[in-house]
Amino acid sequence: MARVAVVTGGTRGIGRAISETLKAKGYQVAANYGGNDDAANKFQSETDIPVFKFDVGSFEGCTEGLAAIEEKLGPVDVIVNNAGITRDSMLHKMSQEQWEEVIRVDLTSLFNMTRPVINGMRERGFGRIVSISSINGQKGQMGQSNYSAAKAGLIGFSKALAQENARKGITVNVVAPGYVDTEMVAAVPEKVLESIIAQIPVGRLGKAEEIAECVAFLANDNTGFITGATITANGGQYFTS
Ligand code: CAA
Repeated sequence: MARVAVVTGGTRGIGRAISETLKAKGYQVAANYGGNDDAANKFQSETDIPVFKFDVGSFEGCTEGLAAIEEKLGPVDVIVNNAGITRDSMLHKMSQEQWEEVIRVDLTSLFNMTRPVINGMRERGFGRIVSISSINGQKGQMGQSNYSAAKAGLIGFSKALAQENARKGITVNVVAPGYVDTEMVAAVPEKVLESIIAQIPVGRLGKAEEIAECVAFLANDNTGFITGATITANGGQYFTS
């Protein structure tokens, strides 16, 4: 039986590339999305990958959404925590809402997505949890104290969860992309983006497909000795061990 993979934020940007790459590698993919029905319907008709609408920032939403996915496709083997938002602002101008919304969607979502399915993975003795961090969780980024905190927190979560489940056939890993050619990065002010691209040794933005390959590698049945790790894919913009 093909493994079942859930990709949050799986209909657009990096998530779309992950959904398509996993499908091409033989997974039964469920693509979650939060709000953009038009994009999700277009994605579903173009890829034939089923879509499931729920808010990853809501525990009830994830519990219900995951139950619907398991009913349709079977037990979840792979979770890709890709859904993420930015609410960029210098902290001295940031509202409490901008802080809380990013922490809820980019960090609390990992608890919400994992808690309902972790016992099933433990019982079956197999699981792959791959979460998308960011270069800005590793190095920090002005204007992103909320996002940098969430994306760094996600790495700590993954290291702890990796230890808890290492004996159960479950790996928990992170991919930390740099600046990738998506709508999220296109929203960065043009002048700022130009200066960012100038700092990337590879000389260009990343491609969503390049991030998807990293995820597929970590999701693979044959990479069970890699856990608690972070794969950095940022065109050489920031090196970390
Ligand atoms: N790199 C270098 N300089 C930056 C910068 C950055 N990422 N962000 C802001 N600056 C600079 C600006 O160029 C400006 O410099 P000057 O005064 O010399 O012109 C100064 O900081 C203040 O910026 P603003 O005038 O724009 O101030 P603001 O309060 O109106 O807005 C901001 C501040 C919200 C941080 C805005 O500049 C911004 O959105 N910056 C981009 C932040 C960023 O990099 N976000 C990443 C989004 S993509 C993503 O998150 C995906 C991922 O994982 C990589």
